[in-house]
Amino acid sequence: MSVRLAPSILSADFAHLARDIAAAEAGGADLIHVDVMDGHFVPNITIGPPVVRAIRKVATRPLDVHLMISDPDRYIDAFAEAGAAMISVHVEVLPHLHRTIAAIKALGVQAGAVLNPSTPVTAVEEVAGDLDFVLLMSVNPGFGGQRFIPATIDKIRRMRALLARAGSTAPIEVDGGVDLTTIKDVVAAGGNILVAGQAVFGSGDPARALAALREAATR
Ligand code: DX5
Ligand code: ZN
Repeated sequence: MSVRLAPSILSADFAHLARDIAAAEAGGADLIHVDVMDGHFVPNITIGPPVVRAIRKVATRPLDVHLMISDPDRYIDAFAEAGAAMISVHVEVLPHLHRTIAAIKALGVQAGAVLNPSTPVTAVEEVAGDLDFVLLMSVNPGFGGQRFIPATIDKIRRMRALLARAGSTAPIEVDGGVDLTTIKDVVAAGGNILVAGQAVFGSGDPARALAALREAATR
């Protein structure tokens, strides 16, 4: 399965988002990963629908919107309307995950379920066939630049097996601490959408950093 790279603008310069997104796209970004945090589900506050709408106007790649918020049901419409192509929601805050996934898809947006590092893969077992993608957190969400949690590698394999049992070949997105030292193992385990923030925008040359990640992922 092909590998897609999704640079996270969390580590970009928020005063120069258009410039940094253009650099990432020049380096071969497949998606633009947008981290939405509410200061409640996670201890950090980032951006909302108006910024997504502004980014939509300058980005040429689909926007992959990761909602780290306590009440995603309340904001799905706004993010879809702002131009999200993909929306992922954390299973930890959703008692009616099946309904939320259906609501995202009804808006014409690809729906993903996100699992924190401590959440078992079985949390999505009953909806596996409904998901357009799964996102496995490889750090505890809230901040960029954290260290990759090694146990994620085996979890990716177990999620791939769970999806296969449900007859699904949905992509597995992996988010947090993905860099030149971890990307190869992530891909070998079955990860196929790779988010990278610090490894791309912390490097000073996002285009070059993405090309290096692509090379490491596909070698
Ligand atoms: C973490 C976010 C991630 C993260 C990625 O809460 O969801 O998207 O910032 O950044 P790096 O690659 O720096 O870990
Ligand atoms: Zn993210």
